[in-house]
Amino acid sequence: MAGVSDVAMRTLSREFGADMTYTEMVSAKGLSYANEKTRQLLELAEGEDRVAVQLFGHEPDVMASQAAWIEEVMGPHLAWLDINMGCPVRKITSKGEGSALMQTPELAADIARCVKNAVQFPVTVKFRRGFAMGEETAPEFAKRMEQAGVDAIAVHGRFAQQMYGGKSDRGTIARVKEAVSIPVVGNGDIRHGSEALTMMEETGCDAVMIGRGAQGNPWIFAEAKAAVAGEAVPPRPSVYEKVEVARRHAKLLSEREGRNIVRMRKHASWYTTGVPRGSEARGRINDCVTFEDFEAVFDDILRVTREFEEAGFYMNNTGL
Ligand SMILES: Cc1cc2nc3c(=O)[nH]c(=O)nc-3n(C[C@H](O)[C@H](O)[C@H](O)COP(=O)(O)O)c2cc1C
Repeated sequence: MAGVSDVAMRTLSREFGADMTYTEMVSAKGLSYANEKTRQLLELAEGEDRVAVQLFGHEPDVMASQAAWIEEVMGPHLAWLDINMGCPVRKITSKGEGSALMQTPELAADIARCVKNAVQFPVTVKFRRGFAMGEETAPEFAKRMEQAGVDAIAVHGRFAQQMYGGKSDRGTIARVKEAVSIPVVGNGDIRHGSEALTMMEETGCDAVMIGRGAQGNPWIFAEAKAAVAGEAVPPRPSVYEKVEVARRHAKLLSEREGRNIVRMRKHASWYTTGVPRGSEARGRINDCVTFEDFEAVFDDILRVTREFEEAGFYMNNTGL
C-alpha cells in the first residue's frame, strides 16, 4: 500500500502471521531513471527474508526490463512480482496505468506477457471488479491474464470509479475464481480475522489479502490465520499490547529513517483508536517528529489507562 506498507509495517505483519507482504507500489519508469526514492521502496527490513514487489507502469518494455532488474538485484529476497492494474488514483490512471489498464485489456495482457517472459520468478496481477461503475469486467480480464501466463491474480471487489466507497463485492471474486484455474487472492473489506474465513468460504478464493484492516492492527493476521485453520481466534489486544507494538513500530521506523519519523503519525493514529483519551493523544501525535515525541504520547496513554483502571473503570480489549 502506497505510503503505508513500509518496512516496519511489513516486519510486524509477518511477525503476527502474514504469509507474505508487498512493497508499496513501485514505478517502473522511476526505476528506469534510477530514481533513488523509487529504489528505496525495494529495500528490505533487517531480518525480512522475502517480499513481493508491486510494479506499476504502462509500457511493456519498461515494465519487463525493470522486472528483470528487480529480479537480478533482489535475488532470493524477491517472493514474486505483482503488476498493479487496480490503482484508481487519477495521477496514475491519467497515464494509462493502474486500473486504467482494465480499459485497455490488450495492452494489459501485453504487459503481463512481457513481464512474465522477462523473469523466472512468479508474476501476479492485481486488479478490480472493473473500471467503470457497474461494468464488471474482472472475470473476462482474469481469463486474459491467465492466457498471458501470469501465475496468480488478486481481485479487489470494487470498481475503480468507486475508489474506496461502497462495499467490495464478494460475488465478483467468486466469478473470477470460476473463470480461471490459476490461484485467486480475494481482497476487500476484511476487517476482522473471521472475515478471512468467510471470504474464502463464500468465494472459493485460494488466499486473502488484507489492506486497511492491518493498519495499526497487525493482530488481524494472527486472527485470520486462526480462523482459517479452524482454531480459536485470539482475543483483541489490550491497550498495553497496542502501545507496546506501536512503540516497536516507531522504533523500527526510526532505525530506518533516522530522527525524523513524521511517517509514524498515521500509524500511531491507527494504533490509538479505541484507547482511553485517544482523540487527545491523536491531536498530540500530529505534532510528533522524533521517536521520543511518540514515546511521550505512548507513556501518557499508559498512565491514563492505569488511572482509569485504578478508578475502577473496566478496560476491555478495545480500551473502551
Ligand atoms: C492508502 C492506500 C494505499 C494503497 N496502495 C496500494 C498500492 O500501492 N497497490 C495496490 O495494489 N493497492 C493499494 N491499495 C489498495 C489496497 O491494497 C486494497 O486493494 C484495498 O484497500 C481494498 O482492500 P482492504 O479493504 O483490505 O483495504 C491502497 C489502499 C489504500 C487505502
